Amino acid sequence: MEVRVFPDAYGAALYTATLVETTITQLSSPVLGLATGGTMIPVYQHLVQFHRRGLRFEHVTTINLDEYVGLEPTDRHSYHAFMREHLFDHVDLSLDCRYIPSGAACDLTAACRAYDEILQAHPIDLQLLGIGVNGHIGFNEPADHLKPHTHVVELTEDTIRQNARFFDAEERVPTRAITMGLQSILFAKRIVLLAVGASKAQAVREAITGDIRTTVPASLLQLHPQVTFVLDEAAAQQL
Ligand code: GLP
Repeated sequence: MEVRVFPDAYGAALYTATLVETTITQLSSPVLGLATGGTMIPVYQHLVQFHRRGLRFEHVTTINLDEYVGLEPTDRHSYHAFMREHLFDHVDLSLDCRYIPSGAACDLTAACRAYDEILQAHPIDLQLLGIGVNGHIGFNEPADHLKPHTHVVELTEDTIRQNARFFDAEERVPTRAITMGLQSILFAKRIVLLAVGASKAQAVREAITGDIRTTVPASLLQLHPQVTFVLDEAAAQQL
């Protein structure tokens, strides 16, 4: 495991974006596993800048980690909308090479299985991750058991409270989500977890230096042979 600490969030996001850029330029058909959340916004801003300076996305496939259940892709709170706003609308990524779970599907079980088939067909070269204050990755919430494949999850009160800032009111945050499972995440060839700010310091410490436990899903990353934690000083303060 590699841990890179930067003086501030800007440096951490820029470094993360350069890792993505390297993957895009070095591989002929790169597959990126993408994440949402406030931490990722500056990473996507840098990638859009890189695109304006010539970085091409036309050969890239993207597979997002998760989506809220019950939100149509057109809903402005959906992760579909997040990705359009922060990345997809600004780069030359092909429309049929971007995948996000279908949170609005009538048959969620079928939607999960369909997503697993997409993952099987497109092994991820670089998986971007954020981390929840409770140690979740994707929407794999702390629990006694974690699921290997794509599944529907009940969000914890912690996560609903944390993510309420993106909604008009806490009551509007969906209580369920579809997320890629732990096996799918760990199957990525390389994983880069970006965490900034003091609110993430405890989760980061438990993920990096704690025992591997399902109650800290990010601690399972210790099992991966090529994982990089990219942190600012605030997120690294408990290491
Ligand atoms: C959501 C996403 C996670 C993300 C987390 C942290 O819960 N499902 O993938 O890591 O938010 O978000 P933020 O970066 O806004 O703290």
